[in-house]
Amino acid sequence: MPSDPKKRIDFLRQEIEKHNDLYYDKSEPIISDSQYDDLVKELQKLEQDYPLFASKTSPTQKVSGSPSSSFAPVKHSTAMLSLDNVYSEGELNDWYARIVKNAGKNLLFTVEPKIDGISISLKFADGTLITAATRGDGETGEDITENIKTIKNIPLKFSAASRDEIPSFLEIRGEVFISMQDFNALNEALLNEGGQKFANPRNAASGSLRQKNPQVTARRNLRFYVHSFGASDGKDFPKHTDFLAFCKKMGFEIAGDMELFSSPKEIADFVRHMTEIRESYPYEIDGLVIKVNDRDKQESLGYTNKSPRWAVAYKFPAKQAATKLLNIRVQVGRTGAITPSAILQPVPLAGVVISHATLHNFEEIERLDVNEGDDVLIERAGDVIPKIVKVVEKNSEGFFKPPKFCPSCKSQIVKEKDEDTAYRCINPECPEQFKRSVMHFVKRTAMDIDGLGEAAIDQLLEKKKLSSLSDIYALTFEDFLELELFKEKKAANLIKAIAASKNRPLSKVLFALGIRHIGEKSSEIIAEKFSNIDNLFSASIEDFLQTDEIGEVLAQSLKNFFANPQVIKMIEALRAAGVNMQEGEIVKKSSKLEGLTFVLTGELRAMTRQEAGEIIKSLGGKTSSSVSKKTDFVLAGKDAGSKLDKALELGVKTINEDEFQAMIKE
Ligand code: IVH
Repeated sequence: MPSDPKKRIDFLRQEIEKHNDLYYDKSEPIISDSQYDDLVKELQKLEQDYPLFASKTSPTQKVSGSPSSSFAPVKHSTAMLSLDNVYSEGELNDWYARIVKNAGKNLLFTVEPKIDGISISLKFADGTLITAATRGDGETGEDITENIKTIKNIPLKFSAASRDEIPSFLEIRGEVFISMQDFNALNEALLNEGGQKFANPRNAASGSLRQKNPQVTARRNLRFYVHSFGASDGKDFPKHTDFLAFCKKMGFEIAGDMELFSSPKEIADFVRHMTEIRESYPYEIDGLVIKVNDRDKQESLGYTNKSPRWAVAYKFPAKQAATKLLNIRVQVGRTGAITPSAILQPVPLAGVVISHATLHNFEEIERLDVNEGDDVLIERAGDVIPKIVKVVEKNSEGFFKPPKFCPSCKSQIVKEKDEDTAYRCINPECPEQFKRSVMHFVKRTAMDIDGLGEAAIDQLLEKKKLSSLSDIYALTFEDFLELELFKEKKAANLIKAIAASKNRPLSKVLFALGIRHIGEKSSEIIAEKFSNIDNLFSASIEDFLQTDEIGEVLAQSLKNFFANPQVIKMIEALRAAGVNMQEGEIVKKSSKLEGLTFVLTGELRAMTRQEAGEIIKSLGGKTSSSVSKKTDFVLAGKDAGSKLDKALELGVKTINEDEFQAMIKE
């Protein structure tokens, strides 16, 4: 048991959220599914042992992945769940024994390939496709109907012989994927066009599905296989195979071949056979899915809040290859963390050529006793970035040591002892850290400034156009035209994207600011609780701790962040640039106060300062927390203090609440 279970629980929740974000939102997982499952299992166990620390927002309570903001939300008829994984025949037999214990003997099972693609739900009304959606958070996905309609093997209408066969409503679920051959061709084409290639077929399928222009999706040769039932009205499917057979008849292709298995031996034999021939599949399969065939038995076995008890995924062992470790590159992250990564002699593995591997941290390098020049064994589990398993031939002395100085700013590296040993550059002005902060700020899950990629950021930094986050909002059309590969259309789109990002809710702004330990989910919780940035500036550690989901690590991190004068300056600059600093959608009712900046001070009678601020913004005005010559009005309530003095000193116009009411009337 950990010495401080609460601290460990907080740590595990953050780690899991981080990996969820990497897997679902960025499609760039850095740990394998089994390592991920270990984190979840440890957290589940701790939450069971310490119910006091249970939380509704814990990642153990939710299906991961968040619906994105750029496509309309679609509510699924029933939750789109995930699957529990097993990694060995032994674990599979344990699962089988549990099923038999709960549902009795004489069960039949299907064993299907587990396609490494993107889970999709299709709703059909009277046999016609009405909506297609991604899984999202399991409850709500994104509407990608127009893109799905371009996939050639999805019938837009059921090919039924008679109308009586067609249920009035049917939700069909399955996997969208791209074949290895089409994936390699796509990457080659992308590289030829000067674009970036996809790391693996799953990312390619996901990226192609989430195109804003369906014509791009249409060119990507995506395919769809049905694998599960969502909901129906007007038709019963007593067996999983009945459902699959029906879908097949209606013109769909299905994931398995509907063969039925009755004993653990038969299942295990088939699993072994499939493991041997997995490479011969023209698309990536990362395991097998074993399902109870009888729907009544499925229902009696039931569900956990993440997955059905009647099905399990058997994950194939990782694929391995030997190659040479050419060199170890040391990178500086946005928080100053120094991490090593391996540059490899390119080697084909599982259908793609691998030239990079993760090394996680310097402890891992020491454990592997690895150095530049060694021959190494690498493995790739699913679409995880490959990792080095061991040294097969040592061609060097000892292991690679952490650098003493930051590779970017040359300041001294500091060794920190936290959950992991971390090496960090603590220079707040380190250029690489700033570059990474900008990249984090603009990414899709943060301020979502589409088109401002690493190459453009590099050039803007070189041209000294960016030295703080708020500089993004001062960039002009001409600034972008000066960059390589930027033409008028791209520059204009980027200007639009930057302007649109000013209206993101506070939760996105908080996440974008990159506060240590604060991920996407915690940002949402904090934004909901504190409503606006001024409440965060004035909150104490105790105020933060009042929120169930915020533990001491997070509370301390928030307090440190909002008390930091540099942070205050940066946030004020963002606010002055027009970036929204409150939660909830700002519905601009009119432009009556357009261009006017207000400072609110003292106690108001008819409303709180926060409400007054919201009214100002809804009328096109801005609020600021400090008085300067740029302030247009200081709204002074009862017991107004130093801000009123400052206004008088600078000659800024002051108004009382009645005058304010008169201003906003009509
Ligand atoms: S059955 C309740 N069958 O794997 C979920 N899923 O890791 C029922 N997948 O979300 C899913 N091939 O997207 C099922 N033959 C198959 C599958 C399959 C791939 C995906 C599916 C699911 C994920 C879980």
